[in-house]
Amino acid sequence: MQTFFTFLDLPEELKTPICRTMPGEDRIEIGYMRRRATDDTDAEEKMYFHYHPDVETLFASAIHAAGEKTKDFLRAARAVWDTTIQISEDAVDEFETKWPGVKPRFFPLNAAPHLVIRFLAYHARGAGNFLAKAHYDRGTFTIALGESAPGLRIGTPEKLVPVEHHDNEVVIMPGTGFQADIDSGVVPAWHDVVQTKGAEITTNTARWAVVAFFDVADATYVPLSDTHLPR
Ligand SMILES: [Fe+2]
Repeated sequence: MQTFFTFLDLPEELKTPICRTMPGEDRIEIGYMRRRATDDTDAEEKMYFHYHPDVETLFASAIHAAGEKTKDFLRAARAVWDTTIQISEDAVDEFETKWPGVKPRFFPLNAAPHLVIRFLAYHARGAGNFLAKAHYDRGTFTIALGESAPGLRIGTPEKLVPVEHHDNEVVIMPGTGFQADIDSGVVPAWHDVVQTKGAEITTNTARWAVVAFFDVADATYVPLSDTHLPR
């Protein structure tokens, strides 16, 4: 994560050119994004980077202009992406036993998987406050890979349970697509993030997290506004 924070410390004008929607996928943003409290439906202030290997070709000149610190971060991000592919393959192999035919939808033969790694820094809001209000993720499934402090709670709109992360473990949770696109009957995981006491990394940053979003290649999506309404 050090390389991520070093990247975040770079001037905005070097980072902001590294951002666009995925070609042919106007719902997936890749690259660097800064959300202000007002321009997000869930009113969270955060900075994040969506990594997919296409970043390196799509933004080759902007990355060159941004310099070595950006390249260091992207090298680290690529290693996380590669590891996450392996973790996901194990999970998808299990899904395949339950829902035959699903594996090639996650791992299409002639295209890169729709796996995006989100490196995320939440702006500090004070202990006990929400860093992310409760919602469903829109993709097929989400993997919580790591975090600087507890705070993620997963469950149902009636009951959210704090997640305890352990070394060498990840948390996989279904998004709305798991039900909609796989016809699996698996209900999406309702979740939020609260700032825990004493968790701040700096006075401005409450928490970091690394999360992977994996979608079947033929995913359909619900509008973002629907994801914050309990079902
Ligand atoms: Fe989420």
